Amino acid sequence: MTTTTTTAAGAAKTGSVGVGRSRVEGREKVTGAARYAGEFSFTDLAHGWLVLSTVARGRVRSVGEEAVRAMPGVLAVMHHGNAPRINTDYLTLMGPPDGILHVFQHDQVLHAGWPVALVVAETPEQAREAAEALVVEYDVEPHDIAFEADRPGTYAPEGSEASKGDLEAELAASAAVVDERYSTPEAHHTAMEPHAVTVRWEDGRLEVYDANQGSRAVADQLAQTFSLDPSAVRVRSEHVGGAFGGKLVAAHHIAAVMAATELQRPVRLTMTRRQVFALTGYRSPTTQRMRLGADADGRLRAFGHDAQSLTSNIREFVEASAGYGRVMYASDAHYSVNRVVPVDLPTPTFVRAPGEAPGSYAVESALDELAEKLGMDPVELRVRNEPDVGPVSGLPFSSRNLLGCYEDGARRFGWEGRDPRPRVRREGRWLLGTGVAACSFPSGVAPSTASVTAEHDGTFTVRITAADVGTGARTALTQIAADELGVDQGLVRVRIADSDFGQAWLSGGSMGTRSWGWAVMAASRELRDRLSPTAAIPTEGLTVRTDTTELVGALAQKERYSYGAQFAEVAVDVASGEVRVRRLLGVFSAGRIINPLTARSQLVGGMTWGISMALHEEAVRDAADGGHVGADFAGYHVAANADVPVIEAHWVDDSDPDDPVGIKGVGEIGIVGTAAAIGNAVWHATGVRHRDLPLRPDRVL
Ligand code: MOS
Repeated sequence: MTTTTTTAAGAAKTGSVGVGRSRVEGREKVTGAARYAGEFSFTDLAHGWLVLSTVARGRVRSVGEEAVRAMPGVLAVMHHGNAPRINTDYLTLMGPPDGILHVFQHDQVLHAGWPVALVVAETPEQAREAAEALVVEYDVEPHDIAFEADRPGTYAPEGSEASKGDLEAELAASAAVVDERYSTPEAHHTAMEPHAVTVRWEDGRLEVYDANQGSRAVADQLAQTFSLDPSAVRVRSEHVGGAFGGKLVAAHHIAAVMAATELQRPVRLTMTRRQVFALTGYRSPTTQRMRLGADADGRLRAFGHDAQSLTSNIREFVEASAGYGRVMYASDAHYSVNRVVPVDLPTPTFVRAPGEAPGSYAVESALDELAEKLGMDPVELRVRNEPDVGPVSGLPFSSRNLLGCYEDGARRFGWEGRDPRPRVRREGRWLLGTGVAACSFPSGVAPSTASVTAEHDGTFTVRITAADVGTGARTALTQIAADELGVDQGLVRVRIADSDFGQAWLSGGSMGTRSWGWAVMAASRELRDRLSPTAAIPTEGLTVRTDTTELVGALAQKERYSYGAQFAEVAVDVASGEVRVRRLLGVFSAGRIINPLTARSQLVGGMTWGISMALHEEAVRDAADGGHVGADFAGYHVAANADVPVIEAHWVDDSDPDDPVGIKGVGEIGIVGTAAAIGNAVWHATGVRHRDLPLRPDRVL
């Protein structure tokens, strides 16, 4: 196979790419025709309801199923004492399956919210009534969920350090030093659509209607878990109401398949909001020590980042906050490490911009403090430390137009002429300030397969196991296919999220549209070459199927990242401590933008989450029982409309020259750096540094 690539703009035949297009499935969504995982109905559909442990550690002594079985409509009560055995000895993308997926396989409770039973009934109301009536007794064991810096048991996993030069020596030789600790709280990706799954056996196949980020990955994992041939499992997930890292395989999948198999009836299982909080992962809290040292002219001599997060006693998951600085700033010496400490909590997981979101908060806040000490403009300080190659790796960058982001952002925001002194702008009871931060996120690509069919009627059908979790990916793929085929977008239908379409990357790592787009582009291009203008298309159509494994594997090793600059203006009420974000403006170098309309929404969505991260979001746990205090949208605050000003997201030219699609990804970078920009603006407004998120009124006051 040839590894020659063409330029990104090489095949723009119809000009669909680069034009803002509303979602191809938009009408279905707004008219209610689009069906989500919890909305598929079948004759004989039974409804499951999970029962979660109320203790943080121990053993299930008894499950009072007799009383509950007699309740109206109850069909089954499944628990460790009667559930079928499953296979847990296999590998996922993240290593062995988490212990929480060993559903009903033993009597141990390893954290609060551990699934201990499933009640199945004729209606959801009956299932819930019975689940809530189920008495589960426990032998309680002591637990410990406390997370703090350098807690005993904290360790650096294999490969978690990066180092260059002598950090201590360079710090000692620096004219200005910042040595501070920053913290971010536990955070949750509670997507609007709670997790749901509907499962049935049909003609010897397990049919799963799901809400996920990757139907092929879910199908493969279910096949492993239930020792089925992969071809015996079909997972579909056409419409998904948000995911953010939280919609992979969870306990409800396993429980639902068990129930459908045992009862030989279709089973639907939806989670409550509280169950979503308990069962689907979260972002670990972090505590991060930053040590920066610079010469008087702002050149960094030392860059030190010690990032700590928690993991569970079940499986190691690292919130890799220290990765962020490794590609961002040149310095003579660098030492960064991601440490973890296991506690009796659920295993944390990927949450939008894992690592980069909390990591950028610490790094970009510390840089602002350094700029203050040096009496230097914070944009200028960053520009001065812009590296030519990867600061630690020494690898070339595929492309990096961060300087363009600073320049364009500063111009658009009106940064020039900013009075650097804090606490000088006042408007009535409000103190005003502005702040800046940079951002970056890895730009990856993974192998995928796609097929494109020229139909007899002159239309085209693309099939790929992509997931559109609300991002607009399906629309972008339609645009890419139309351009490659040289036809109007209206002639192209893209079918997604069906595991029968074959292997494809997940909606994750900001790699979805890029990975799928490459496969769709390659298949479309080959099909176009095969279509002769005179030959008739056979009745069954003409199909080309492409796998990008070799193309992707041939990419040269470089630092591949998206970048950006975030600017914020805030107002702080000196009487109440309330912080209002007045303006937020981001300029990104994120590769080729396929659909400006949906890409902008992605970026603005990420930035909005950044406001939440800066000001609102914080999962609070009760040390006594390990559970959440406010696990719903009333108790867990996220930015609402009134908290969100007009947000501007722009981009500068920056295409990855090695990739024919040219995409770098916009899924996660919007949240990176935002909270630091806001925090830095709060310092500028008030003259007081706050280093713990969120910036609640009681902290700011
Ligand atoms: Mo994302 S946190 O890679 O779904």
